[in-house]
Amino acid sequence: MKFYLKTYGCQMNVHDSEKIAGIFSEAGYGQTEGVKDADVIVLNTCSVRQKAEQKVYSDLGRLKPLKQKNPALKIAVAGCIAQQKGNNLFKRFPYVDFIFGPQNIDSLQKWINDQLSAVSGQSLGSEIRNPKSEIQITALRENPEYSLKTLPIKREGQVRAWVSIMHGCDNFCSYCVVPYTRGREKSRTSRDIYNEVQDIAGQGFKEITLLGQNVNSYGRKQDEKTVDTTRVRDFPDLLKVIHEVPGIERIRFVTSHPRDLSEKLIDCIRDLPKICEHMHLPIQAGSDKILNLMNRRYTYQQYKEKIGMLRTAIPDIAITTDIIAGFPGETDEEFNYTINALKEIEFDGIFAFKYSERPDTKALNLPEHVDEDIKAQRLSQVLELQASITYNKNKALEGKAVEILVEGVSETDKHRLTGRTMTNKIVNFHWNTENKSSNRSSSLIGRLIYVKILEAKQHSLYGKKI
Ligand code: SAH
Ligand code: SF4
Ligand code: F3S
Repeated sequence: MKFYLKTYGCQMNVHDSEKIAGIFSEAGYGQTEGVKDADVIVLNTCSVRQKAEQKVYSDLGRLKPLKQKNPALKIAVAGCIAQQKGNNLFKRFPYVDFIFGPQNIDSLQKWINDQLSAVSGQSLGSEIRNPKSEIQITALRENPEYSLKTLPIKREGQVRAWVSIMHGCDNFCSYCVVPYTRGREKSRTSRDIYNEVQDIAGQGFKEITLLGQNVNSYGRKQDEKTVDTTRVRDFPDLLKVIHEVPGIERIRFVTSHPRDLSEKLIDCIRDLPKICEHMHLPIQAGSDKILNLMNRRYTYQQYKEKIGMLRTAIPDIAITTDIIAGFPGETDEEFNYTINALKEIEFDGIFAFKYSERPDTKALNLPEHVDEDIKAQRLSQVLELQASITYNKNKALEGKAVEILVEGVSETDKHRLTGRTMTNKIVNFHWNTENKSSNRSSSLIGRLIYVKILEAKQHSLYGKKI
C-alpha cells in the first residue's frame, strides 16, 4: 500500500507532513511520488492567502478522474483549509473521504486502521454517508491534548530537523487565519521537546529549527501538565536547556513576534554559540496606523528599538522579515513608511505578499480596501527595492571566509554541495575542483566547514572550500 502526500504552506505544515508520513510509515505504507500509484492521497493544505487556497482546489479538482477510475482510492485533506472549511469541502469535492485539521493529526492513525485497513472500530468524529454510501469522516475538534502527544515522525533530509515547541496562536493579527485554523496557543512540555532533540541528535542530525507561530511566548500559558521543571519558564530557558544536547551544532527558531522579543532572548543568542545569528522578525508594515489596524501591538519606533538592541548585542546578526502590501486603509503615504522602513533597517531578506482577504478575519470588515492593481504595484516596488539591498549584503561577503553547515548536493548543479551560514545564507560550493568523486562529497555532508565566498548572487552565494 502506498501513500502520496503533497504539502502547501509554512514550515509548520512541512513538519506536520513529516508526522503524517510517520503515521503512514508506522502503519506499513510506502511513500510514492506519483499520484497514479497511490492507494491513498493526502493534501496537507494552507489557507494563509487566497492563492494558496485556489491552488489546493485546482489540485483537488484534478484528483476527481483518478477516483472515478479507481473507486478504492482514498483521498484525505489535512491542514489549515481542512480545518477552516470542514464539511463544506465534501459539498464541493464529494469524492474526498477524510478531512482532518492540524490539531487532529493523531486521528489519522485511527482512520488508517478503520477505513484503510478495513478493521472496523469506533467512530472518529462526525461520519457522513454520501449518496454513494461511502463513509466520509471529519476530525476537526478543538484538541487541547494535542500538544502532549508524541507522534511518529518521518523526517526529510539528514542534517536539519524541525521540532515543534508550541501549537496554535493567540495573537489574532487582523488579517490572519492561523488562530482560526490552528487553534489556541499551547506549549509542549520542555521534557518532551528535550527528549525529541536528544533523539534527533542520536539519529545524526546537526541542526534543529524550533517551530511555533510565536516562539517568544513559549511557556506563557503553562498549565499543570506543561510545567514539568522549574528551570524552564520561557523561551530563553528552553534554548539554554536544548543547547546542552550533545551532537546538535546549530539551533534556529521561527517565528518571533516583535512585541515579545525580550532582552533575555537577545542575551541568549549572544551568549550561546549554537544559537544561529539570524532572526526572522516580521514587521508587516512601517506605518503605525496600519500596524494598529493589523493588531500587531507595536509601533515602528518600538520595532526599530528591538532591531537596535539585536544589532548592538550581535553585530553580525542577519534579520529577515515579512511585509504585507496594500492592507486596507493603506494610502500611498502609509505605504511609503514601509518603503522607508526597508531602507532604514536594511533587512537581509524579506517575504512580501499582497494583502489577501481571509474568511473570519477582522480586517475583512475594515473600510478602504486597496485595489488589486495598486497592491500588485506596491508589492513589486517592495520586492525591487529589497532585491538590491539583499544583493548588496551578499556582495559585501565576497572574498570573506564563512563557516557553513553542509546540507547536501546542490539541486541545480550536481557537482556542487550546498550549505548555509549561521546567518541563513545559502552557499553553493565546489568541494574540490580536481576530484569530484561522490565519496568525498558525501563525507562533508553534516559537517561544519569554511568556504571562501567568490561570487554573490541574488539568492545565494558561491564559494570554494578552504
Ligand atoms: N506566525 C508567523 C507567520 C504567520 S503567516 C508570524 O506571525 O509571523 C506568514 C506571513 O504571511 C505573515 O507574517 C504575513 O506577512 C503573511 N500573511 C498572513 N496573512 C496574510 C494575508 N491575509 N494576506 C497577506 N499576507 C498574509
Ligand atoms: Fe498570524 Fe499574527 Fe499569529 Fe503570526 S502572530 S500566526 S501573523 S495571528
Ligand atoms: Fe498556511 Fe496554516 Fe501555515 S494557513 S502558513 S499552513 S499555519
